[in-house]
Amino acid sequence: MHLPNLEEAKDRTSKENKYINLDENYKKVFQGKKYFLRTYGCQMNVHDSEALRAYLETLGFTSTEKIEYANVVVLNTCAIRENARDKVIGFLGKCKYLKKNRDNFKIVLAGCMSEQPDVIEDIRKNHKYIDIIIGTHNLPDLPKLLLESFNKQVIEVYSNSDEVIEGFNYERDSKYTAWVNIMYGCDKFCTYCIVPYTRGRERSRRLESIIKEVEDLKNKGYKEVTLLGQNVNAYGRDINETFSHLLECVAKTGIERIRFVTSHPWNFTDEMIKVIAKYKNIMPYIHLPIQSGSNEILKKMNRRYTREEYLDLFHKMKEKIPGVSITTDIIVGFPGETRKDFEDTLDIVKTCEYDGAYTFIFSPREGTPAAKMKDDTPISEKETRLQELNELVNYYSNKSNQKLLNKTVEVLILGDSEKDPNKVYGYTDTMKLVNVNGPKDIIGKIVNVKITETKSFSLDGDYIDEKIVA
Ligand code: SAH
Ligand code: SF4
Ligand code: F3S
Repeated sequence: MHLPNLEEAKDRTSKENKYINLDENYKKVFQGKKYFLRTYGCQMNVHDSEALRAYLETLGFTSTEKIEYANVVVLNTCAIRENARDKVIGFLGKCKYLKKNRDNFKIVLAGCMSEQPDVIEDIRKNHKYIDIIIGTHNLPDLPKLLLESFNKQVIEVYSNSDEVIEGFNYERDSKYTAWVNIMYGCDKFCTYCIVPYTRGRERSRRLESIIKEVEDLKNKGYKEVTLLGQNVNAYGRDINETFSHLLECVAKTGIERIRFVTSHPWNFTDEMIKVIAKYKNIMPYIHLPIQSGSNEILKKMNRRYTREEYLDLFHKMKEKIPGVSITTDIIVGFPGETRKDFEDTLDIVKTCEYDGAYTFIFSPREGTPAAKMKDDTPISEKETRLQELNELVNYYSNKSNQKLLNKTVEVLILGDSEKDPNKVYGYTDTMKLVNVNGPKDIIGKIVNVKITETKSFSLDGDYIDEKIVA
């Protein structure tokens, strides 16, 4: 695979989404047909699925929750760990069975698995019933591929292109919060991670089209945007822009809430911290993955920072951004991780008292450097470490939630609570989940809520009144 360097990337052209106005012929073929879409993986995939839905619905398909009624099944897959892949393979078994009894039943494999050479080889050999494999870079080719596949059997694989496509249509899941891609890909090459291979090189979207998208969302009544990238701090390196400048421009649109994921601790500048602290509509919430507390392991992971540098940054954020909530990602059982290395990780968790953490056991990904590293820690030991880590992480997220007891916080209400149909739910500006006792007509609004009970992963509260907008 050819990986362009930064100089080459600068010459890359961005282009407008070419399939927005679809030919009427497409519609005739697909009218009345149904699609079933299932999404695995991270926010990037969740947002890509919103683009896939927009294509399918523009073509004339309607959505169904029942796979038995579908004419097209789209699996937007994830490859980050083996269990993510296993889930997809399991589900494909069901699709294969359904396909046996149906004529017009097409299976589309999208997402990160469809960018992995070993997966494609396996599909060509063992899963010939899959009709279309479409890469993460080529969502706009879905209409063309679908049309071809309803005419004949095609398996088409699209892989790495450097284009940045602007102006995607999205069939968004929410009317109140929206994902906004600011860049694609990742150049960090952490040694355990598959993402640089499945998503390609870092490519930034144009600042003006991001701002226009946010303004349009604001005009449609959206209250919150999440700026999306594998490593948002790197935004603009290829187009002579910076993330802090983008963030400031987004803040000035006046949209009520702005957050961003994910931040790599490397290259998180003082300017970014200054902008976050300055604007009230930038949420005081930062997801700052540490991965490991051991310098030895961080080096083997190619994370490009030491625990000391991470802690300096962490303390600076806590000092400069009032009330900031910081969450993290941690991998246990990286090849060669000793008990002492693991204790360094526990120590970081105790120092940082994270508001929350996603924890994972290392999963070797074919084609990444870490998959070839010597790993002699038994899986049972890794599981014990994970459990020990989770207990500590839960202790601190509980502790940070308890600080909110009896306090009044602002919550963006998103819908009916899953826990209790009489309640609604939403998130604080620090991204804490709150189940709220209150009327249904506050859905879609930012309201004041008094916290009455705290748990490890959520809060309960009573609605007080609506936020006064200055
Ligand atoms: N771009 C983001 C996260 C991408 S993946 C970042 O750099 O922070 C989300 C998380 O999955 C990572 O932060 C890491 O903790 C975990 N992860 C990635 N590859 C993994 C692997 N091979 N095994 C276990 N966990 C992994
Ligand atoms: Fe993967 Fe590292 Fe890139 Fe995150 S920064 S996506 S962990 S390579
Ligand atoms: Fe998975 Fe791809 Fe996201 S591998 S975590 S869906 S970028």
